Amino acid sequence: MSPSPEPPLRKPPLKGLVLSGGAGTRLRPITHTSAKQLVPVANTPVLFYGLRAMADAGVTDVGIIVGDTHEEVRAAVGDGSALGIDVTFIRQDQPLGLAHAVLTAADFLGDSPFVMYLGDNLLQGGITELVEDFRAGDADAGILLQRVDDPSSYGIAELDDGRVVRLVEKPKQPRSDLALVGVYLFTSSILDAARAIAPSARGELEITDAIQHLIDTGLRVDPHIVTGWWKDTGRIGDMLEANRLILDVMAHRIDGDVDDASTVEGRVVLEQGARLVRSSVRGPAIIGRGALVEDAYIGPYTAVSDDVVVRNAEVEHSIILNGSRLENLPARVESSLIGKDVVIERTDAQPRALRFMVGDSSVIGLL
Ligand code: TTP
Repeated sequence: MSPSPEPPLRKPPLKGLVLSGGAGTRLRPITHTSAKQLVPVANTPVLFYGLRAMADAGVTDVGIIVGDTHEEVRAAVGDGSALGIDVTFIRQDQPLGLAHAVLTAADFLGDSPFVMYLGDNLLQGGITELVEDFRAGDADAGILLQRVDDPSSYGIAELDDGRVVRLVEKPKQPRSDLALVGVYLFTSSILDAARAIAPSARGELEITDAIQHLIDTGLRVDPHIVTGWWKDTGRIGDMLEANRLILDVMAHRIDGDVDDASTVEGRVVLEQGARLVRSSVRGPAIIGRGALVEDAYIGPYTAVSDDVVVRNAEVEHSIILNGSRLENLPARVESSLIGKDVVIERTDAQPRALRFMVGDSSVIGLL
């Protein structure tokens, strides 16, 4: 007997929509020159964690919303094949809100259901289970929620009988501690909702308003409470915290050179071409390709990107981007995010003085 043909799929596969536009004002000055989604966490751009989560969940047709930094994002992601996805870039002329980003992607989305992921967010548990649950069920939308200590700083969801009944942006008197996480599951009904709403007081088409519109028109929005950690890396503190969480679970790997006078303690990744000379590294830490650490100390929760030089200096709990140099420093650098090609050094030049060439919105803390 010939095998019976596969039954037709009940529902079309989900597409992915990753938001990598926006202004990134909270991460200035880094975002004056770079996309915030490309700032590395444990030496991998934040954006790539979301794209990998898509690939892991079997979501391979992925649209990426890009804004002013589109060239840099395109260069980093390419066609997505290295990450196991097929990418379509979608240009959003202005960052007019998350619901505006959805409308900008209308042609790409068609009438497919989709999972939307904010490109600066990190979700420990990935999205595989959520995507599977959504596909199996008949909700019109699904939102991810996490309990938080300070609900008045977040978009908050109120539930009733297992359904989402109300979303409130930064409530003064919160009636729930369930904050919206930057991952959403939608059917194409969200497009109609996004068309129906008006811009908020800050001039953006808010996704919370669009979801509220779904609820108000009788559609079903299911909550999914996530228990693993979730980080929105919009601010430096969150960025460093995400770096810490990812480094905490990285496997030890030494592919670079460690001279006899250097020591490596704990879990450390030393990439090929990285060199430790008379130095000590205490993990969890990662040191990128071509980096040189000489007469220096790299402490826990530090990510040193490619081609960085740390000489006669100490660094801990920090992220240093490509090509920067820290040299002859009189005190340990801590809890810092240092951009690309930055030079911080102590010199003997006279007269003795502090000399800066610092971009707009930089923050410098001296002893
Ligand atoms: P946000 O962090 O809410 O906004 P932002 O990037 O403008 O940052 P800031 O508040 O520091 O100025 O955006 C969440 C994600 O969505 C982020 O990856 C940027 C992206 N985004 C878009 O792609 N288009 C948009 O219109 C907006 C508002 C955000």
